[in-house]
Amino acid sequence: MYKVLVLPFKQMPSAEDFLTQEEKRYCQTLKIEKRRQDYLAGRYALKKLLSDNFVKADYKSIEILKHEDGRPLLFINGVKSNLNVSISHSNAYACACAGRGCLVGVDIERVEERSEAWRNFSFAKEEITETSPEFLTALWAKKEAVLKLLGLGLSVDMHSIRFDNDRMYLEGKLKEKQNSLGAAVISTDLSYTNGFAVAVAYSKVV
Ligand SMILES: CC(C)(COP(=O)(O)OP(=O)(O)OC[C@H]1O[C@@H](n2cnc3c(N)ncnc32)[C@H](O)[C@@H]1OP(=O)(O)O)[C@@H](O)C(=O)NCCC(=O)NCCS
Repeated sequence: MYKVLVLPFKQMPSAEDFLTQEEKRYCQTLKIEKRRQDYLAGRYALKKLLSDNFVKADYKSIEILKHEDGRPLLFINGVKSNLNVSISHSNAYACACAGRGCLVGVDIERVEERSEAWRNFSFAKEEITETSPEFLTALWAKKEAVLKLLGLGLSVDMHSIRFDNDRMYLEGKLKEKQNSLGAAVISTDLSYTNGFAVAVAYSKVV
């Protein structure tokens, strides 16, 4: 079971209201203002999602640190949580996802026209069954959500994950990671909100 929350940055309260000391310390190391806003909004969205749906804890009892590979690491009252979580941000919107008993990955992307070079970098020819910005943005978001579920970033070849309608194929390092995590079946859900595509990848761990 997973839940997802999309929030515009303008709904975020003051950082003083929800950041822990350690999160504040990390935020101060971020040199770029946009990066700081992304960091804050992602944390706020995830804390709100968790305290509204999963845990009886106030925002400052929920701490979202970072694994060395960039993944969020969740602690509730100082104890590492067994909830799986994922964060994404795009153009002043943040998105958070949490799952109990399943791995999750989330990606939010603004629907917009992109270049031919981006298409070639991202997709195999056979995947481009439509050329609308909605379709291609969603296809990208689904790939990124799966990569986040696997704990991998954009360092992988985007052609080693391929969608054929709703079937997904993973190759090489991605397939190995899927096996090592016990994520035998990875599914994706897609929605559109306020001009954004939101993709969630989820998988029951077996
Ligand atoms: C993961 C990645 C694909 C996301 O790219 P993006 O489109 O720029 O950003 P999004 O807003 O959709 O997602 C960012 C969030 O992804 C999460 N994330 C980062 N690396 C991740 C990973 N390896 N696995 C799962 N989630 C990851 C983080 O929560 C991050 O938000 P935060 O920094 O505020 O905590 C990209 O950051 C990447 O390739 N990272 C791997 C290499 C790297 O730079 N690591 C950072 C070390 S600190």
